Amino acid sequence: MEVVPIFSSARNLVTIPESPQRAMQRVKRNFNPLRDDTADIPDQVYERICRILKTLGGFQLHGYKNACIKRRISARIRSVGCASARDYADILLQNRSEPAELIKMLTIHVSKFFRNQNTFNKLRDEIFPTLFSGCMQEGRGRLDIQSFGCSSGEEPYSLALILRSSFDHEMSQVKVSIRAVDIDEEVLRVAAEAVYDPDRMDEAPSVIKKRYFTLQDGKYHLVPEIRDMVSFHCQDLLRSVPLEGCDLILCRNVLIYLERSHQEALLKRFADSLRGGGILVLGKT
Ligand SMILES: C[S@@+](CC[C@H](N)C(=O)[O-])C[C@H]1O[C@@H](n2cnc3c(N)ncnc32)[C@H](O)[C@@H]1O
Repeated sequence: MEVVPIFSSARNLVTIPESPQRAMQRVKRNFNPLRDDTADIPDQVYERICRILKTLGGFQLHGYKNACIKRRISARIRSVGCASARDYADILLQNRSEPAELIKMLTIHVSKFFRNQNTFNKLRDEIFPTLFSGCMQEGRGRLDIQSFGCSSGEEPYSLALILRSSFDHEMSQVKVSIRAVDIDEEVLRVAAEAVYDPDRMDEAPSVIKKRYFTLQDGKYHLVPEIRDMVSFHCQDLLRSVPLEGCDLILCRNVLIYLERSHQEALLKRFADSLRGGGILVLGKT
């Protein structure tokens, strides 16, 4: 039988004596949509999937809530038509594109402009005025903002839109930096393009839509004036890269996916990196 060393760079991973096409055919043959054994991923297989994802996709699953991740892995197992988690782990190892597909399913990217409008109203009416006046009182010429888990840019761009539409005068005296971070390169590419489907815009005030977007072929294109206010960075929040000093941190709808110990560690890092009077904004959930 032929041994196929598909991923030569992958150390500590066993090679499978079967071609990827054959393996896919085999699992599809065995697929029974009424069997729900995929919902239950044995610990050993889960550990193996974690190892494969780390080695082949550079993605560290430890730290994320197991139940939540397992549910999504099960959904992927079902959608590729695998008979069991064990078979799926083989596919993950053999099929070059599968690790990236799975990572895409594991990191939820849902976002919207002005998602949970009350948060943005509070930022506009209370938080930004306080932060700007703090800067001016201290004679500090800059305000540093970070958006962690920024997805395709809707959140940091919403901040930029508020600042440009309501704080132009303050920004002539205080330089504002908006740094947006996500682990997923693909969403960051979308963020850099800044072209959005209408469903991403339904919480955005219509005056903002009219003034800062152009509508072309049914999509909303953000004007360069706002795009240029945000810098995007690909970074894994769970790796202990130092966070720079900042005045405002948004980390919304990211912590909910993490294990408690990682939530606490991240919150401590946020606290350490916030300057006196700095603000942390979390998601509604
Ligand atoms: C549900 S979205 C939230 C988007 C936005 N903050 C919002 O609330 O609308 C979660 C984002 O967190 C990112 N993310 C998940 N784990 C991450 C990590 N370890 N480091 C950086 N970003 C991460 C995901 O890629 C995803 O884009």
